Amino acid sequence: METMHASASRPLTVRSATAPLSGSVAVPGDKSISHRALMFAALARGETAITGLLEGEDVLRTAAAMRALGATVTRVAPGRWQVTGRGLGALQEPDDVLDMGNSGTAARLLSGILASHGIFSVMTGDGSLRGRPMKRVTDPLSATGARFTARAGGRLPLAIEGVAEPAPLSYRLPVASAQVKSAVLLAGLNAAGTTRVEEPVATRDHTENMLRHFGAELSVAPLGAGGRVITLAGRPDLVARDVAVPGDPSSAAFVLAAALLVPGSSVTVRGVGLNPLRTGLFATLREMGADLRLSNERVEGGEPVGDLTAVAGPLRGVDVPADRAPSMIDEYPILAVVAAHAAGPSRFRGLEELRVKESDRLSATVALLRRNGVTVEVVGDDMLVTGTGGAVPGGGLVETRMDHRLAMSATVLGLVAAAPVTVDDTAFVDTSFPGFIALMNGIGAGLAA
Ligand code: S3P
Repeated sequence: METMHASASRPLTVRSATAPLSGSVAVPGDKSISHRALMFAALARGETAITGLLEGEDVLRTAAAMRALGATVTRVAPGRWQVTGRGLGALQEPDDVLDMGNSGTAARLLSGILASHGIFSVMTGDGSLRGRPMKRVTDPLSATGARFTARAGGRLPLAIEGVAEPAPLSYRLPVASAQVKSAVLLAGLNAAGTTRVEEPVATRDHTENMLRHFGAELSVAPLGAGGRVITLAGRPDLVARDVAVPGDPSSAAFVLAAALLVPGSSVTVRGVGLNPLRTGLFATLREMGADLRLSNERVEGGEPVGDLTAVAGPLRGVDVPADRAPSMIDEYPILAVVAAHAAGPSRFRGLEELRVKESDRLSATVALLRRNGVTVEVVGDDMLVTGTGGAVPGGGLVETRMDHRLAMSATVLGLVAAAPVTVDDTAFVDTSFPGFIALMNGIGAGLAA
């Protein structure tokens, strides 16, 4: 069923796993790719069939927004969606406020589309999203000629007067953000001329890959050490192309981490997206000594995919360099949980962007660990975790602050803590990983439903 609801709070008390986790599972579709598939399909001419779409609340918000903008978006079967696009520049004015729920990706990417159409729109979101910075997109997008009016600090609700003839943008990203890069590129689609984005550090490139897939002319060149310049020719003939969405590596992370930590476990996650700009966590886990095996490597829908098997074993602390952060930006809460169990200290460098996620994830992750007896501190933008080399004390109440990834990280912590861990609310898990608790129970986690 396609549902979007104001979530009633769902607390959960997690007890230590009494037996190893085992099995072979598939996680839901990639969130980043799912949002983009719906948006590009709505902008293209013709019918796009999407398979493996994530049916989490964040993506359903994007589906609803694209419908409100005039595309026909239909759920054919679980994960199988059909979109009839309007064609570039042809979106219609929405007749009501667009509510993007908890989703920063939906709000930021959509602002690029709305700015570059001659329509008026207003976007809002839930309490978490209304607190997140939007100036990082409205500042560059203003140079298209579009006008934005927002609350203090550039927060949602946001009113957008878009322009039918947007000026092409040339922008150097001040922060490593795939959302900002994507917003600029999406605005550039309907601009006559060339749009250029410079990113000092490469971030996930799903927008670039999918733009090419739908027929846009795009070039990517290296910039300095690890950066990129992306050049997009405006007004391409975007033509509908089918999209196969791989499993989300950021969701697989929780399942694999649990398997690495619960003694005796061995769990395979099939069909995980392995885009190199998303796999920083897997490299880091291997540096910690994790037994993480890759098999059945293939390319599906233009993205590398494989099956990952995690086998529990001893782990050691790790020092993660700042330039790896973009390739694992959503994975630090679960990595912090793994580091709490590893032997010795860990240091994660350059985490300033964590402060502006679904919650302030830097302070929320610190609180999650401290409440459960783990020694952790923040020095500048670095997080330092002192690993126990075994079960953490646990026994704490974790505040998830409307943040799905904190809820799932706390759940994994509870599976390997000496005393039960209480998660105040797991409802937001549905934004990215519907069925998480059932999937975990399927591999033996024994979570109370
Ligand atoms: C995303 C980019 C990242 C990430 C988010 C999804 C995307 O955000 O945290 O979950 O799909 O482009 P930033 O671009 O703000 O780093």
